[in-house]
Amino acid sequence: MNQPIGVFDSGYGGLTVLREIVRTLPQYDYVYLGDNARTPYGTRSFDTVYQYTLECVRHLFDRGCRLVILACNTASAKALRNIQQLDLPRLASDRRVLGVIRPTTEVIGTYSQTGEVGILATRGTVTSESYVVEIEKFFPELRVFQEACPMWVPLVENGEYNSPGADYFVKQHIDRVMAHSSRIDTLLLACTHYPLLLEKIRQFVPPGMTILSQGHIVADSLVNYLQRHPALEAQCSQGGQRTFLTTDSPADFDRQATVFYGESVQSAHLAL
Ligand code: DGL
Repeated sequence: MNQPIGVFDSGYGGLTVLREIVRTLPQYDYVYLGDNARTPYGTRSFDTVYQYTLECVRHLFDRGCRLVILACNTASAKALRNIQQLDLPRLASDRRVLGVIRPTTEVIGTYSQTGEVGILATRGTVTSESYVVEIEKFFPELRVFQEACPMWVPLVENGEYNSPGADYFVKQHIDRVMAHSSRIDTLLLACTHYPLLLEKIRQFVPPGMTILSQGHIVADSLVNYLQRHPALEAQCSQGGQRTFLTTDSPADFDRQATVFYGESVQSAHLAL
């Protein structure tokens, strides 16, 4: 049986992460699942995000995935720990589910010269405090300032990320996070959608600011993880296949996916 690496997101956004993973590790098979019918997750409660994410992870297990990456920050913040600690031991103790927060917090401190960083994310990710808690473990000296940017996902989803209308909301949140401290020299785009706003964000940050997208960080971390877990790595099939599933309309998914993934895809509908 084909045993692809599963990549899960609440919708299209995780394709920005999959894109980097595939670029770095093209040899593996991948199945991407976007829960477009129930997106966004960023505004939903802890329990809802957990239930939705678990349901999707179980489906990916049923499709043969030994390893699933939660490419969604909100799902990583609100569902990953429960899945790892409560569900995996009883459902599938030989399978693994990883998120995007841990790999990012392991390296974020190495990017900052001043020791002050800003985290831009959904409200759900910010209120979970996951970044603050995880960064504390690896870089206890780092000063972390969070800013929820609830309008940024809708701007991207509606194709407005390059429009003059986006300026107001991008500037508003950049100004707010920078108001905490002018010493912030690194901003983390801690949401799958935000890399599409990169050019817009650059217009409003002070010169010399490092703006970090997560895709390449997660991809590098996966390389390292697979090297450290050879038995699991051997179970991930290497046929170079990509499968795309959406819980909503495949036609809509395929139209939007190009923007996030950088090439056209053909998805299939998944009824959960
Ligand atoms: N994928 C989500 C994240 O990275 C953003 C979209 C949503 O709110 O569902 O947090």
